[in-house]
Amino acid sequence: ETKRVVVNPDGTFTSAYDEAVQLLKAGEVVAFPTETVYGLGGVATSDAAVAKIYEAKGRPSDNPLIVHIGTIEEIDRYVIDVNDKAKKCMDAFWPGPLTVICKVKPNILSEKVTAGLDTVGLRMPSHPVSLQLLRHLGEPVAAPSANRSGKPSPTEGIHVEEDLAARIPMIVDGGATGIGVESTVIDCTLDIPTILRPGGVTKEMLEAVIGEVHQPTHLEQKEGAPKAPGMKYTHYAPNAPVYMIEKDEEKIQSAIQALHKENKKVALLAPENYACEQADYFFSFGQDTQEEMALHLYHALRACDATDADIVLATATTTDGVGSAIMNRLEKSAGGNWYK
Ligand code: TXA
Ligand code: MG
Repeated sequence: ETKRVVVNPDGTFTSAYDEAVQLLKAGEVVAFPTETVYGLGGVATSDAAVAKIYEAKGRPSDNPLIVHIGTIEEIDRYVIDVNDKAKKCMDAFWPGPLTVICKVKPNILSEKVTAGLDTVGLRMPSHPVSLQLLRHLGEPVAAPSANRSGKPSPTEGIHVEEDLAARIPMIVDGGATGIGVESTVIDCTLDIPTILRPGGVTKEMLEAVIGEVHQPTHLEQKEGAPKAPGMKYTHYAPNAPVYMIEKDEEKIQSAIQALHKENKKVALLAPENYACEQADYFFSFGQDTQEEMALHLYHALRACDATDADIVLATATTTDGVGSAIMNRLEKSAGGNWYK
C-alpha cells in the first residue's frame, strides 16, 4: 500500500507534490530525498505525525529529530537567539547538508521532536525535490533517515521501499541522493561551536566561515558507545557482521583466504581498484576518493543483505575532510571492529 512516485530530481512540479502535501497536512508521514539521504518526514508541530515517524522506523522516541525548513524566514518561528556564528553558518551553507542547533521557542514544535531539550536542530536541504516539497507545504518537517532503525540510511527510493513498504503511505522518489552520508550537525549555542555529528560540511569548511570549531576526536565520540565488549551496535549495519580493514591488497587477500578456510563467505566493500577476485561478493565504494566513498557507503552496506555473506570486510579511510563522517558511520556499522 506504499505508493512510490517517481519525480524529476530537478524538482519540477507535479501532482505528486500536492499529494505529499495533503498527506503531511493530514498528519501522515512521507519519505523524500534530500542531498544527503532520504528522510522520513512528518509535520514537526504535530505530536501525532512525529509519533508515526518513530513507529514506522521502529525507533525508540528518545532521540531528537532534525527539523527541515524551506525558507530562511521560517527560522524565527521556531528558534530564539540565533547568534552571529549560527547565522554565518546558515548564510554560508544553506541550503545544504548542515544542521544548526539553536535554542528552541517553547510550545511550538512537538516535544517529540526536541526530546525534551531546550534546543532544536534546523536544516534547509538543497535537494530540489525536498525544497519544492517544503516550500509547497509551508510547514516545518521533522525527518530522520527513512530506514528501519538499525539499517543503513537509504540513498535511493528503492531502499526506502525495502525497509518501509506497507508502513508508510508514500515515497517521493527523486533518484539517488548526492552526498550519501547525513548532514553535519553543529551546536552553535556553545562558546566554541562543536560538531556533534560529522557530515558533508567539514570542520575545515566551517572554520573558514566562523573560526575555531571543536570536533571531538574519535575517542571522545566513542565515549557514548556501549561499554560492554561484544555488545552489538545497531547502527548503519547489514545483517552480517562488518569488520574494517586497511586499504592494503595483501591484507585483504590474506583475510579472505583465512575466512575461506573457516568456510565463511565474504563480502568485500572497497574502492574499484581494490576489487578482489577471491571475494565471494564485491560492492564498490566507487573511485578511490572520500567523496565517492561517502556516496557509495550505505548502498554497499545495504547490498550485503541481498547475499548469503557471513562476514563483511569494508576498507577504512583517513579522517580528513568528509573522511571523518565516513569513518564515524563505518565504525558504527562495524561496532568498532577491525579485521586482524
Ligand atoms: O542528513 C540528514 O541530516 C538527514 C536527512 C533526512 O536530512 N536527517 C537525519 O536526521 O539524519 P536524524 O534525525 O536521524 O538525525 C538527528 C541527529 C542525531 O545525531 C541527533 O542526536 C542530532 O541530530 N540532534 C538533533 N537535534 C538535536 C539537538 N537538539 N541537540 C543535539 N543533537 C541533536
Ligand atoms: Mg538515521
